[in-house]
Amino acid sequence: MAATLKVLLVAGARPNFMKISPIYRVGLKYAEADCRIVHTGQHYDYEMSQAFFEDLDLPAPDFFLNAGSGSHAVQTARIMTAFEEVCLAARPDLVMVVGDVNSTLACSIVAKKLLIKVAHVEAGLRSFDLSMPEEINRMVTDSISDYFFVTEESGARNLLREGRPPETVHFVGNVMIDNLFYQLHKLAGRDGRTFSTYKLKQGQKDYVFLTLHRPSNVDAKESFQEIADALNYVAAERPVFFPVHPRSSKMLAEHNVKLSDNIYLLPPLGFQESLFLWKDAALVMTDSGGLQEETTALGVPCITIRENTERPITIEMGTNILGGTRRETILEAYRRSLDRKGQRFAVPPKWDGRAAERIWKILMGSEEKNHVTGIRPIREVHR
Ligand code: UD1
Repeated sequence: MAATLKVLLVAGARPNFMKISPIYRVGLKYAEADCRIVHTGQHYDYEMSQAFFEDLDLPAPDFFLNAGSGSHAVQTARIMTAFEEVCLAARPDLVMVVGDVNSTLACSIVAKKLLIKVAHVEAGLRSFDLSMPEEINRMVTDSISDYFFVTEESGARNLLREGRPPETVHFVGNVMIDNLFYQLHKLAGRDGRTFSTYKLKQGQKDYVFLTLHRPSNVDAKESFQEIADALNYVAAERPVFFPVHPRSSKMLAEHNVKLSDNIYLLPPLGFQESLFLWKDAALVMTDSGGLQEETTALGVPCITIRENTERPITIEMGTNILGGTRRETILEAYRRSLDRKGQRFAVPPKWDGRAAERIWKILMGSEEKNHVTGIRPIREVHR
């Protein structure tokens, strides 16, 4: 009988939960794989954490590290200390990390120093903006990982340019989209009236769905107010549904940012309810990474409220427009987005709901080859 591959699959913050869900589900199909979930506790509120585990059909984690909030150093150190104990006790063959949050960085460093192999899912993405904590997390994780699972060609290009061996770089597609398709299917069988936002949606046919939480956008009063000015203009034309992230909630109160009454402030929503709203929106405005990809996969117009993106394929092929963070640039993107109504966009290669399958095939040695040859030249996307 083949030896069992012991895997610790790490998640810590909201966007990680969507990514581990399909990986975990497909992993269950392999009798020779023993895949355990580690939740670092970076996010801990019911709406930011447990609600997602329930929505995403994830079981309770096998290990919960209870790291909680803190400065980057404090949070990262707490996760590292707790994860080291788990690794020493569980002795995994492989630690699998996803995305670019502090948990990704912390757990990859701990594993590597214990000589445990590290797989990074969503490797190689680069915003080339070192003022983003996520960019540092991506670069450090990618400098020590053993397997690189890439969502788009730019990721492979970046990794090869940084000297990673080509045989370790696998273009597998996007687990975020695996999860999206799975959840869409589930949503189709669900009665919309079970959502608290059902009535709100019924009353409005032409609305904007907004998410905003990046420290660079909300932590300073001037930046938040500048973006709010643009949003208030948009809200004069159509209602805006805004599930508010805990960071933004704090900052709204602290800075006393004025938002139009036509911007509906909602609590953080579970995955299904959020999808229920944004899939039918006239436009999504966001500074999230995942929504840039998910809107492209479903052909929903999207404006990214940032100066750059580490996901250039969503602009080159998909519905995403980089809106910047100034009132005027956001509104220019808004008008451009309305002008593109009816235009058809493409779905990026391998965003077909099978990324997790490709990952496990590679890990278990029943490899479907996912060569990174034929990659086009680098084009950074900046405004
Ligand atoms: C983190 C990730 C970011 C990701 C985002 C998604 C890093 C560096 N950042 O940012 O990449 O896009 O998650 O949500 O890893 N808080 C709560 N309840 C919670 C969690 C946090 O109230 O369950 C509060 C904390 O007090 C904290 C603030 O929200 O002050 C921000 O949380 P934190 O985890 O530090 O960073 P995020 O902004 O969520």
